[in-house]
Amino acid sequence: MALEKPYPIFLSLLLALLLHSVVAQPSKNNIISLGTSLTAVENGSFWPSPSGDFAFGFRKIEKEDGFLLAIWFNKIPDKTIVWSAVLETTGDALVAPNGSKVELKSDGLFQLVDPEGDQIWIASPSRNGTDHAAMLDTGNFVLVGHESQNLWQSFDHPSDTILPGQVLHSPAQLVSRYSQNNFSRGKFLLRLQDDGNLVLWTTHYPMTLANIPYWDSHVFGDGFSLVFNQTGSIFVQSSNKSMVASISSNAPSTQDFYQRAIIDYDGVFKRYTYPKGHSSSAWSVSHNIPEDICNKIVEYTGSGACGFNSYCIFDDGMKSCRCPDGYSFVDPNDVKKGCKQNFVPQSCDETSSEAHHFNFSEMQYTHFPSSYYDYFYQVSEDWCKQVCLDDCHCAVAVFRAGECWKENLPLKNGLIDTPFGGKAFFKIRKVDSSALDPENVHVKNHISKLIVIGSTFLGSSVFLNLLLLVARSKLVVYWSGHNNQEDPKTSPSRPRMNLRSFTYDELVEGTNGFTEELGRGAFSTVYKGVLPDIPGNLVAVKKLKMVNEIDKEFEAEVSAIGQTHHRNLVKLLGFCNEGEHKLLVYEFMSKGTLASFVFEDQKPSWHQRVQVAIGTAKGLLYLHEECNIQIIHCDIKPQNVLLDDSYIAKISDFGLAKLLKIDQTMTTTAIRGTKGYVADEWFKNKPITVKVDVYSFGVLLLELICCRKNFDMNIEDEHKMILIDWAYDCFHYRRLDLLVEDDDEAQIDMKKVEEYVMIGIWCIQDDPSARPTMKQVVQMLEGFMDVPNPPDLPSFTNQW
Ligand SMILES: *[C@@H]1O[C@H](CO)[C@@H](O)[C@H](O)[C@H]1NC(C)=O
Ligand SMILES: *[C@@H]1O[C@H](CO)[C@@H](O)[C@H](O)[C@H]1NC(C)=O
Ligand SMILES: *[C@@H]1O[C@H](CO)[C@@H](O)[C@H](O)[C@H]1NC(C)=O
Ligand SMILES: *[C@@H]1O[C@H](CO)[C@@H](O)[C@H](O)[C@H]1NC(C)=O
Ligand SMILES: *[C@@H]1O[C@H](CO)[C@@H](O)[C@H](O)[C@H]1NC(C)=O
Ligand SMILES: *[C@@H]1O[C@H](CO)[C@@H](O)[C@H](O)[C@H]1NC(C)=O
Ligand SMILES: *[C@@H]1O[C@H](CO)[C@@H](O)[C@H](O)[C@H]1NC(C)=O
Repeated sequence: MALEKPYPIFLSLLLALLLHSVVAQPSKNNIISLGTSLTAVENGSFWPSPSGDFAFGFRKIEKEDGFLLAIWFNKIPDKTIVWSAVLETTGDALVAPNGSKVELKSDGLFQLVDPEGDQIWIASPSRNGTDHAAMLDTGNFVLVGHESQNLWQSFDHPSDTILPGQVLHSPAQLVSRYSQNNFSRGKFLLRLQDDGNLVLWTTHYPMTLANIPYWDSHVFGDGFSLVFNQTGSIFVQSSNKSMVASISSNAPSTQDFYQRAIIDYDGVFKRYTYPKGHSSSAWSVSHNIPEDICNKIVEYTGSGACGFNSYCIFDDGMKSCRCPDGYSFVDPNDVKKGCKQNFVPQSCDETSSEAHHFNFSEMQYTHFPSSYYDYFYQVSEDWCKQVCLDDCHCAVAVFRAGECWKENLPLKNGLIDTPFGGKAFFKIRKVDSSALDPENVHVKNHISKLIVIGSTFLGSSVFLNLLLLVARSKLVVYWSGHNNQEDPKTSPSRPRMNLRSFTYDELVEGTNGFTEELGRGAFSTVYKGVLPDIPGNLVAVKKLKMVNEIDKEFEAEVSAIGQTHHRNLVKLLGFCNEGEHKLLVYEFMSKGTLASFVFEDQKPSWHQRVQVAIGTAKGLLYLHEECNIQIIHCDIKPQNVLLDDSYIAKISDFGLAKLLKIDQTMTTTAIRGTKGYVADEWFKNKPITVKVDVYSFGVLLLELICCRKNFDMNIEDEHKMILIDWAYDCFHYRRLDLLVEDDDEAQIDMKKVEEYVMIGIWCIQDDPSARPTMKQVVQMLEGFMDVPNPPDLPSFTNQW
């Protein structure tokens, strides 16, 4: 009996070996003979295994110019890669340039060369005795010697995957890739150590040094190997071929299923199966090790299973990494980079005064093992929150039954851990008061200033008072040199021919006796009219009040306006100049004013708003720099920008500033500006330059971005009431998302939103010389010029 026993084992082993070599023996049609090569081109040729299940060749890397030298499942649509050549030096997947060549040279050398013919990878330094190469049906690629011995096989140089039939001898390791489609080296290792233990490690990424083990097989011994056998069991085997640890069993049959086991990019060692002959199927995980990875990894240095500041949840067999409330991914396409705070953290200079700007978002069962820096016990939940609020270093308070942990950034090893039982309180800056700094008085000053302006404009007697006030302050208006010079082009005694002169009666008839009012301003009222001999028939007739009564000057100014031609200006068609009746006739703009377009319910798209901003800026640039005489508009606001059939922005009412001039030193232009859009210099003894329009444009731009009025009394939150302050605060605290909260289109274009807000902030600088020119504004809006970081807004301490 004692003698008999070994025989069956011996015989079955022999049989197995024979069977194995039969399977492994390449049939004639898949022999790769000496002197054969493959070139790296997209959808190029490859070397299939006899059954066609596997192939060896080049795989194009997604979104990159390069190829992996790889082995893949060739009969399934997604061509899952099971092996790829790695760079000896870094352990990263080797990326071969287009046109590289893998060749089995006639002298037996098996190598990869780049298009210049330089060697970039070599299978084995030995070239002695190579007879041929073969892609086997097991997924193993082999170099075979003259005595049919294996000189080199891919099974001995695994990347992250092992296949049925593959055996790893200690010491050996699999290295995870970076992500599903990025084959660079990742953070996790599966090691069959030389002590025989099979261990999953995190590494000190991006180095390969092992950091902490998070699972192991608990078996030790010399000469152990890891076996993935033909029936799909994975186990550790001792040198006497007995199983010492089962890693994964109960596999479905390899007859009916493709199988692979991989140290996946999420750190889980997974066995996958795929039903053969079902090309529309998908890989499914039949075993995870460890079962819940989130619970297993606690690194003392390093971020843990997920990136810093994120937390790990394992749900339905899948690990995923998420950001807590108030945090978002640093790179949504690469969650391993972790999360960042969406708000400006608590200031340590003013911890106590800042404390009330923060509250907590609560998350059950969440904690960050190893992130704490302070610990208390026998305390209440409220005490725990308060102690965190009063400490600028504290980012999260974790509380559990009388115990309290203060945790600081970056948060590590985050997870939802039901057995832990506690909860986390994330300290988040409150949304509505991000700007509310008690020391920061400029918000309040600004409100009171606007209220004064607002009421000033309400009654004409107050309005006249302001006129006198402005007159007393000897406000001087500069018209860029053209003002005092007799420019032959700009002061013709008669309007040019391109303007029609209408009689008052014609306009009374055309407007049906001034019945259909389109708009009304302090100095004019606009009516819709129909004039048969005008192209398109429709016109807008503007009846001016308080105009320069001297006919000659009126006509000179009208003529100047008539000489402007720009796609983004409303075209003046004609005028009427009969004593007190001074009227201007403009082309009719079917889509009305920008104000009704932007502030009413039907919000224009982000793209349309961008176009309107650029158009308006170009119109202003023309007025400032490109037309015959420089025109300062003085009243840029959404009510004065009109839209034509194709929603092209057209500035109206330009040139009126000068038309309405009363005399050289005192002009009504000084108070033409509209509350909320006027620059500070109106209120000071400072020259008025084109930069007043730049200021108003800045306000208009911010309104366009946010689809709201600069000054909105209906907004309850005082800090949001004035848009330019709110926008500035959102910019300052890096919460620009709040400005375009319900605007999905803008939210996916946050880079542009940020740039546009920055341009707006530049335009509304107090110091006119700090504001950009309209030329610069146009260049920045169109992306031809970088937008520098705007300076802080000065607080409005100067009284006017
Ligand atoms: C390669 O094959 C894929 C899938 O069949 C196809 O979408 C792609 O256009 C092909 N590329 C080239 C360069 O032929
Ligand atoms: C690779 O090279 C081939 C031949 O030179 C060329 O036709 C092809 O466009 C190149 N492919 C890429 C992705 O550069
Ligand atoms: C290869 O062959 C050469 C010459 O025949 C010999 O010197 C060398 O030792 C051989 N190398 C190996 C690894 O067998
Ligand atoms: C893959 O990830 C590495 C590490 O983050 C990165 O350097 C590399 O650019 C990525 N490759 C691709 C193709 O995205
Ligand atoms: C694979 O291993 C399992 C578990 O040890 C065993 O039951 C099975 O018979 C093995 N299959 C082969 C083909 O050796
Ligand atoms: C095989 O080796 C293992 C561990 O090295 C040992 O526990 C076991 O008894 C051995 N089995 C046989 C049949 O020798
Ligand atoms: C924190 O403040 C925000 C707004 O500032 C509010 O929506 C939220 O409900 C508050 N959270 C708690 C827990 O009070």
